[in-house]
Amino acid sequence: STKQDLKGKSIIITAGPTMESIDPVRFISNRSSGKMGYAIASQAINRGADVTLISGPTNLTPPQNLKKLVRIESAKDMYDAVIENFDENQVIIKSAAVADYKPKDYSDKKIKKSNDDLSIELDRNKDIAYEIGKIKKDKILVGFAAETNDLIENAKGKVQKKNLDFIVANDLTKEGAGFGVDTNIVKIIDKQGNITEYPKMKKEEVANVILDKITMLLKR
Ligand code: PMT
Repeated sequence: STKQDLKGKSIIITAGPTMESIDPVRFISNRSSGKMGYAIASQAINRGADVTLISGPTNLTPPQNLKKLVRIESAKDMYDAVIENFDENQVIIKSAAVADYKPKDYSDKKIKKSNDDLSIELDRNKDIAYEIGKIKKDKILVGFAAETNDLIENAKGKVQKKNLDFIVANDLTKEGAGFGVDTNIVKIIDKQGNITEYPKMKKEEVANVILDKITMLLKR
């Protein structure tokens, strides 16, 4: 029997990759498996929260007892789903790996191979966390940062730019951290610039560290 310290709290969790279509058979995506986000969702449910999981395509079985499961493909779909569920939730955790770019022109016919090289022009996607950061008021907004270099500096920049309460930075250069694996190695950086470092932990344990921090912020 886990402590029910999130009872009555409504949380949006975004998880997994986004998929940006090029034509009916091809897409641009990334290596997110959804494991980090699904681990947060299942631990939050265990602790009594009402969880809306907004998920890109993954092979994972969603946790039981979700309040709502919204399956999406593109970054645009994810943005729409977050906005639609924004009002009725107090906490938003953005563990999804959202594509920053999408193909400028979707081809509704399969693109034919020719002897020439092919270039695909890309357009910027909206930054969901940034858009939410502008309107969040007293809601709690938690981001992730997936970095290969200058982890702390980049993550600190994202906390400020996106108006996050804190960010969970995974160091992608370390084995057992980031995409695909069952563990993660993270540093949590808050608005004030405080940095807390954690050892390698199961994603469920990382999830509970994040939820502990959210519980403290909710008590303020
Ligand atoms: O799914 P797993 O295989 O378990 O892997 C977990 C993970 C590595 C994907 C996860 O821990 C993680 O780091 N997720 C965020 C990855 C990412 O997109 O980082 P970023 O530094 O590009 O983005 C920073 C933050 O802005 C993120 O919270 C992201 O959700 C958000 N963002 C980014 C771009 C965009 N267009 N909209 C956003 O909201």
